Amino acid sequence: MPKRRDILAIVLIVLPWTLLITVWHQGAINPLLAARKDDRHESRRDSRNTFTLKKPCSSENNKDIVEVVHTEYVYSRPPPWSDVLPTLHVVTPTYSRPVQKAELTRLANTFLHVPNLHWILVEDSPRRTPLVTRLLRETSQNYTHLNVETPRNYKLRGDTRDPRIPRGTMQRNLALRWLRETFSSNNRHSQPGIVYFADDDNTYSLELFEEMRSTRKVSVWPVAFVGGLRYESPKVNTLGKVYGWKTVFDPHRPFAIDMAGFAVNLHLILFKPQAYFKLRGVKGGYQESSLLRELVTLNDLEPKAANCTKVLVWHTRTEKPVLVNEGEKGFTDSNVEI
Ligand SMILES: *[C@@H]1O[C@H](CO)[C@@H](O)[C@H](O)[C@H]1NC(C)=O
Repeated sequence: MPKRRDILAIVLIVLPWTLLITVWHQGAINPLLAARKDDRHESRRDSRNTFTLKKPCSSENNKDIVEVVHTEYVYSRPPPWSDVLPTLHVVTPTYSRPVQKAELTRLANTFLHVPNLHWILVEDSPRRTPLVTRLLRETSQNYTHLNVETPRNYKLRGDTRDPRIPRGTMQRNLALRWLRETFSSNNRHSQPGIVYFADDDNTYSLELFEEMRSTRKVSVWPVAFVGGLRYESPKVNTLGKVYGWKTVFDPHRPFAIDMAGFAVNLHLILFKPQAYFKLRGVKGGYQESSLLRELVTLNDLEPKAANCTKVLVWHTRTEKPVLVNEGEKGFTDSNVEI
């Protein structure tokens, strides 16, 4: 049994030491905290487009005061060019109409968020219009501005089929020719790129552009509000291969897919120089097939957007009533958020 006096002596010895160690420890930690705060300032200065809401630690000052730090609004558009990402060559045919400027502005605002995007805008007009020229100049986009006029009611003698050339076809073909002329001759291998046909009346998720960036040959995904359906989509089996098409309108087309539903690797475009959209004698809905059948087979298609279960692009100027997709086999409509 230790005596009461011994315990007192121990306490008197231990207590000052405890106090001393505590004070010393605090002193060692404080500079660390200060350094951490400096780091935070540093990173805040680096960040762009952000407003930082900083709540001070409860020990500092008054608990109820929330310090709001407004950083300078530095808007970088488009994002800095990356040397490692493939370029997305986005081809948009356009024509003069009352909503043209609104549509192109909306599109440009989307594209300005996408790194390494090169916009190839092709006007259906005898010359490049001042409206589009000005819009492109002011958008700070990486762009190429082309034009070709579709001849109206052009009739080949003896051709009794629909003599009109579908809208956008000549413009898309001009873009294909431009890409081949620009990238074929020199350093073909140093120019990784993806080609996508983006009409100006659709709405595009930013996620879509990152999905298509890894296209090796031709990648595919669903498109909403097309063919009278809530969405059309490639059918994908359990092995992750495309084996058919979820469409109502002529599902036996070789590639029953909308223009907005696929992207092509630039190398494939350069490697198959004869592949163009057919100008004449193409039934409605067969435009896409006329190009794709020159490039790939069904087996080559790469499904994107979580094996074609996510909708990342929408037709937004739909004229037909939109039907609920039928509950046919493999058509799990309810699972798809649109
Ligand atoms: C797509 O399906 C394949 C085969 O079932 C699977 O291996 C792959 O992980 C799937 N991809 C995604 C993104 O869900």
